[in-house]
Amino acid sequence: MSATTQPKRYHPLLVTLHWLLALMIGVALFAGGVLLAETPNSDPDKIFMLRAHMSIGILILLLMLVRLVVRARTEKPPHVETGNGLLDRAGVWMHWTLYAVVILMAGSGIGISVLAGLPPIVFGGSGDPLPADFWAYPPRYAHAILANILMALIVLHIAAFAWHQWIRKDSLFRRMWFGDRH
Ligand code: HEM
Repeated sequence: MSATTQPKRYHPLLVTLHWLLALMIGVALFAGGVLLAETPNSDPDKIFMLRAHMSIGILILLLMLVRLVVRARTEKPPHVETGNGLLDRAGVWMHWTLYAVVILMAGSGIGISVLAGLPPIVFGGSGDPLPADFWAYPPRYAHAILANILMALIVLHIAAFAWHQWIRKDSLFRRMWFGDRH
């Protein structure tokens, strides 16, 4: 398809998924790092917190997969051209890295959950106690390292937005919002 017939904006479903995922990932990162990880497993509220965190994490994974399908099946605006080939390629790779890290983040969370036998405790009301902590399970380390990588990528993503919006003034933001596409 030639660049002239490509839409000006992403598909509204993709736009919705982008902002919904941004919100959910922000909540999962904040609540995971600030509340969940700081609460000992002996705290009676911990199971409830895990239920909320794990549910939102699994939903993030599902919506991210839906997003990749919608992304592949809908018409997209052309790749941005900044005049610097390296920056343009970095922009494309940044997005794929972001998707991969989100998926690995959820995958490592599921890994902790399976190894620690969490589903019956957290969702099944088995009444069994939680393990003393989750650091005995290797995916716990991956989950913490990926959380830091994800935060760094989000900061870069927002910095790139600010650069496009206020320095380059190319209004790239419009592409990820609702409105006339053609
Ligand atoms: C993209 C989705 C997810 C994000 C952004 C996220 C974020 C986080 C963060 C920031 C932490 C604390 C890390 C630290 O600083 O050490 C954490 C801990 C944890 N997450 Fe996730 N998480 C996600 C998905 C999941 C899923 C799907 C599960 C399980 C089904 C899960 C289970 C856990 C568990 C068990 C902990 C450890 C809590 C503790 O040590 O007390 N997470 N998560």
